[in-house]
Amino acid sequence: MPKILATGGAGFIGSHVVLELLNSGYEVVVFDNLSNSSVKSIERVGRMSNGAPVFIEGDIRDGAALDALFEAHDIAAVIHLAGLKAVGESVSHPERYYDVNVAGSTCLFNAMLRHGVKHGVFSSSATVYGEPAPETMPMDEHVPTGPVNPYGKTKLMVEQILTDITSVGPGWRSLVLRYFNPVGAHTSGQIGEDPLGFPDNLFPFIAQVATGRRKILNIFGDDYDTPDGTAIRDYIHVMDLARGHVKAIDYLLGSKAVDNETPVVNLGTGHGASVKDVHAAWEAACGFKIAAQVAPRRAGDVTIYCADATKAKEMLGWEAEFDLAKMCEDHWRWQAANPEGYR
Ligand code: NAD
Ligand code: WQD
Repeated sequence: MPKILATGGAGFIGSHVVLELLNSGYEVVVFDNLSNSSVKSIERVGRMSNGAPVFIEGDIRDGAALDALFEAHDIAAVIHLAGLKAVGESVSHPERYYDVNVAGSTCLFNAMLRHGVKHGVFSSSATVYGEPAPETMPMDEHVPTGPVNPYGKTKLMVEQILTDITSVGPGWRSLVLRYFNPVGAHTSGQIGEDPLGFPDNLFPFIAQVATGRRKILNIFGDDYDTPDGTAIRDYIHVMDLARGHVKAIDYLLGSKAVDNETPVVNLGTGHGASVKDVHAAWEAACGFKIAAQVAPRRAGDVTIYCADATKAKEMLGWEAEFDLAKMCEDHWRWQAANPEGYR
C-alpha cells in the first residue's frame, strides 16, 4: 500500500489521522519535533493498529532531515499537520508563527519538489474565514477569507503557497482541508488531546474542570444573539476528521483528482452547538455537575461559526457521523483515564 508522510503526526489530530490511515491499510511515516506532543501517542497508535508507523523526530524547517526522510522512504503523499496553533501566542509572538508555519511549510514543499513527491494535504483552519457575518452561516468554501490574527494569516498563506506550487508542478495535486472545531478522542481512551499548560479551548478546559485540575468553567459571554445567549461553534469529532483525511488521500491518489488543482474543502458537521449546549452535554457524559459561571466575552470571539460541508460529501464522499454526546463521552473517557495526558 502507498506510504503516507504525516508531519505533526504525533499531535492531537495527527495521532488520530495516523491510526485511521494504518487501519485503512496505508503505511505511515510520522515526522514531528515533539514540540507540542509526546512520542507516547505514536507508541500507543502502533499498539492499536494493524502496523506500527515509522517515527522520525525532526523539524519541518530542517531541509536536510527532510531530504534524508524522502531518500529513505518512497512517499506517495504528504499530510502536512505540523505547525503552531495557539491564536493568542500568535498575536504576542507572530515571528514564531511565520517561522514554523510559513517558512517550515515552504521548506517541506521544497523538499517534496526535490524528491518528486507531488501530492499534499494541508491542515488548514476555518479561522481563515475571519469574522464573517452571522447571515453567511453555514459557511461554504466561497465565503471570502479574511483572517484576523497572525495564526489565521499563516494558515491562509500556506494555502496560497501550496496552491501556487501545485498549479505549475507537473503531476502535482493537493487538497486544503479547513477544519472547524476538532474535539473528542479515539473511543478507546488511549489517545487524545494533551495541551501543554493552560488550555485555550473549550473542550480541554471543561475536561480539566471535570477531573478537578481546574476549579470552574468560565462561559465567555451570555449576551450573544443566539437562542441561549452563548456563542455557537461547529464541533467535529476527531475520528470523523481522521476519516476525512483518509478520504482525502484516497481522492488524491485516485482517478478523480485533477493535476495542478488544489480544491479547498470544509470539514465540519454542519450543526452548531452553543457553549451552554456543550456544558450540558459534558455533564450528561460525566454523570455529575461541572462548575460553571458566566464571565465577560473573550476578545476576538464571533457569535457563530458553522460549516456547510456539502462539498466534502460531494467531492470526497465524506460526512461527519458522530454527535455532540459522543464527542463528550469519548473526550471524557480519554481525560478520565489519562488525567495528566501522556505525562
Ligand atoms: P498539535 O499541536 O497537537 O499537533 C501539531 C504537531 O506538530 C505537534 O505534534 C507538534 O509537536 C508538531 N510540530 C510543531 N512544530 C513543528 C515543527 N517545526 N516541525 C515538526 N513538527 C512540529 O495540534 P493539532 O490540534 O493536532 O493540529 C494539527 C494541525 O491542524 C495544525 O496545523 C493546526 O493548525 C491545524 N488545525 C487545528 C485545529 C484545532 O482546533 N486543533 C483546528 C484547525 C486546524
Ligand atoms: C469555543 C467557544 C469561546 C473556552 C479555536 C481557534 C480556531 C481553531 C479552533 C485552530 C467560544 C467559548 C472557550 C472557555 C468558553 N483552531 N469558551 N470558555 O475559539 O471557536 O476556535 O479553535 O485552527 O482557530 O480560534 O474555539 O474552543 O477556544 O472556543 O466559554 O474556557 O467556547 O468563547 O465561544 P474557537 P474554543
